[in-house]
Amino acid sequence: MSIAAIKTWSADYLKHPKRRALSSVPEGERGFSVLEALSATGLRSIRYAKEIENMAYVVANDIEPDAVKAIRRNIAHNGLSEEKVRPSERDACALMYECRDADKQFDVIDLDPYGSASPFLDGAVQAVADGGLLCITCTDMAVLSGSNHPETCFAKYGGTPVRAEFCHEMALRLVLHALQTSAARYKRCITPLASFSIDFYIRMFVRVHSSPKDVKLVASKTAMVYHCTGCRTFTTQPMGKLTQSEQREKFGAAAGPTANGPCEHCGHTMHIGGPFWSAPIHNADFLSRMLQHVNAAEGLYVTRPRMIGMLTELDVPFYYTISSLGSAVRGDNPSLTALFSALLNQGYKVSASHAARGSIKTDAPAKVVWDIMRAWIKAHPVVSKNVKPESPASRILAVEPSITVDFTEHPQANPESRKHKLVRYQENPEKNWGPKARAKRSRHE
Ligand SMILES: C[S@@+](CC[C@H](N)C(=O)[O-])C[C@H]1O[C@@H](n2cnc3c(N)ncnc32)[C@H](O)[C@@H]1O
Ligand SMILES: [Zn+2]
Repeated sequence: MSIAAIKTWSADYLKHPKRRALSSVPEGERGFSVLEALSATGLRSIRYAKEIENMAYVVANDIEPDAVKAIRRNIAHNGLSEEKVRPSERDACALMYECRDADKQFDVIDLDPYGSASPFLDGAVQAVADGGLLCITCTDMAVLSGSNHPETCFAKYGGTPVRAEFCHEMALRLVLHALQTSAARYKRCITPLASFSIDFYIRMFVRVHSSPKDVKLVASKTAMVYHCTGCRTFTTQPMGKLTQSEQREKFGAAAGPTANGPCEHCGHTMHIGGPFWSAPIHNADFLSRMLQHVNAAEGLYVTRPRMIGMLTELDVPFYYTISSLGSAVRGDNPSLTALFSALLNQGYKVSASHAARGSIKTDAPAKVVWDIMRAWIKAHPVVSKNVKPESPASRILAVEPSITVDFTEHPQANPESRKHKLVRYQENPEKNWGPKARAKRSRHE
């Protein structure tokens, strides 16, 4: 997946006449540079060197002397030179801070830490070239997607998660927010190209460019979320407002609050999460070009089905799940096709998310979603003893639907990827990918 992402990004990057990769690097060494800041054994760097044609060199860095010894051994074992894969024994932060000048920056920086990438984000957004690519993994999902330690998440990423079905997408958006917050200080902006949630870790491919003008858009790409502890309805609260006309862009304060006290649907307490990155987490054009690389390397990547799912993902933050909607009204879950059809028949957009099975992304207001569930329950009545007084189910079902709901199967309700039962959720994208056991020996021993 990383190789496909870097190849896709580099096809664009190397076309640009101003790029350091094409101008200031002597002929013969042309291509782009990569820093694998936390390299361990160097295996990823070695794969990059062997499989990415336009890469000039990769610096395989690790703070542990034993790791760097292993990097050297692996370079030799794989018949590569230390010019192509350059071993480095440095603290990643110190190294990146030393490489902030344009002539020292790396075109790609890969961060694959044990746990959180947060200590490395500020260095990485400065040490990556203009238009360069950051590849970032975080494995601290208990912090990012759990709700037991919101204070830890806030300390690390500047935002809090909520106990929600969409916690994996929230994790992606919290890291992107942290990254953009750092980048904005240096008048730099991020463009998430592809953002994967894969069970116990997340991996993001993000382009960084310098633009004082675009940094003004950051507030309008940042939001909070209110999430109901009873029925799990959510509503986002933008931090800024951008009004665009042909003549100009106007920035202003966003209207709020979007939730006012207890949940308007079930009366339960709303929790607040964020701030998070509320703009797109994928770039459709990039994903479709990346798919071509994935397709070309059939057998090397098992990422294709997930990416097809990601390509159709609706560009709205967060999702419901069929089971959370069903359990809120204490009834049988509608099929995904029935729910998708009802939303599409009302004229709303709908898609699944790659991050969760049975997920529903939609631009329909929560009121419409609940009206659809009310209509479903009318057609498939719940056992009344399951519905306790004052519960979310009793409050939601006490209201009559205000729309006529049509569950007739809609032609777009059953996307190709689902018809073919492609595996799209929570599967390791590559062999030996994901967190490894932490090395036992410390450099202080
Ligand atoms: C999860 S491993 C990297 C795995 C590697 N990317 C791979 O695909 O095999 C994290 C590595 O980061 C190194 N590390 C931790 N803190 C560091 C720092 N401040 N600077 C450089 N390396 C560091 C550790 O020694 C460890 O080898
Ligand atoms: Zn509620």
